[in-house]
Amino acid sequence: MPRIALVTCRPGPEVSVDRDLPGLAGALREAGADARAVAWDDPDTDWAGFDLAVIRSTWDYSWRAAEFLAWARRTGAVTRLANPAEVVAWNADKRYLGELAAAGVPTVPTRYLAPGEPAELPDGEYVVKPASGAGARFAARYTPDEHDTAVRQLARMHEEGFTAMVQPYVRGIDSSGERALQFFGGRLLHASRKGAVLAPGTPYDARKTAHPGLTPWRPTDTELAVAQRALAAVPDAPELLYARVDLVDDEEGRPQVMELELVEPNLFLSLHTGSVAGVVEGILDAARR
Ligand SMILES: Nc1ncnc2c1ncn2[C@@H]1O[C@H](COP(=O)(O)OP(=O)(O)O)[C@@H](O)[C@H]1O
Ligand SMILES: [Mg+2]
Repeated sequence: MPRIALVTCRPGPEVSVDRDLPGLAGALREAGADARAVAWDDPDTDWAGFDLAVIRSTWDYSWRAAEFLAWARRTGAVTRLANPAEVVAWNADKRYLGELAAAGVPTVPTRYLAPGEPAELPDGEYVVKPASGAGARFAARYTPDEHDTAVRQLARMHEEGFTAMVQPYVRGIDSSGERALQFFGGRLLHASRKGAVLAPGTPYDARKTAHPGLTPWRPTDTELAVAQRALAAVPDAPELLYARVDLVDDEEGRPQVMELELVEPNLFLSLHTGSVAGVVEGILDAARR
């Protein structure tokens, strides 16, 4: 009986509950596994006692990144961790988008501003967000006449030690939304589409709805091809148990990568109940290896 940890976080005011978790744990147990949900920062957990630890919903990690990455390294040293600790470390820092772009993957054009670097801001509408972030936390959208507010956001992020990302506001998201292609065990599991998150004028420190208007989506061949290229560009071709590629359309309607999520992608299983079996199979396969 494989012993499987589904790694989550403790509930808190800043994190949403992982609604997939009880059903997934139940389905794994039905399939003969000893599966349970465990918070990554639970001090009493003996990670070596699991055959596999699957990072599922450690949604507080982005503001505790150093602590979380240290946990991933330690845990990966005593059990099989999925995704592997090196992948988690690479993907936790959104400078990976620059690497994808350098590898020729269509990506949202991004400028990085580390603490101490001057605020160079674009002429058109743009987005400022942290290079370590999730759930649109600390992300905001600005017009050129709002530069002062953007500069204040940058200063606050820099004070807290965050590198900032500046991107043009991708207008295509307002018409064609953002498509999330989800892979599990190396295969496309399902895809979803969601609406734009950043409304004009919403303060960067306001809490946002991370997945507005989520619906199932059938990916186009072009979307699939871009997602596959993004996955193929991950350094050292690691084994990925799960991956989510988020795409938005550029001015010409061509999909480009907004985010490649290899740490703790929400699987949206309540929207895709038929995918539970595929997730269970992928996890059991990984636990047996
Ligand atoms: N350049 C952009 N243009 C338009 N919308 C953006 C842009 N960057 C971020 N957003 C919006 O903010 C959301 C969160 O940004 P994202 O880069 O996906 O970070 P995370 O999901 O890790 O917080 C996106 O889903 C999208 O709705
Ligand atoms: Mg995102």
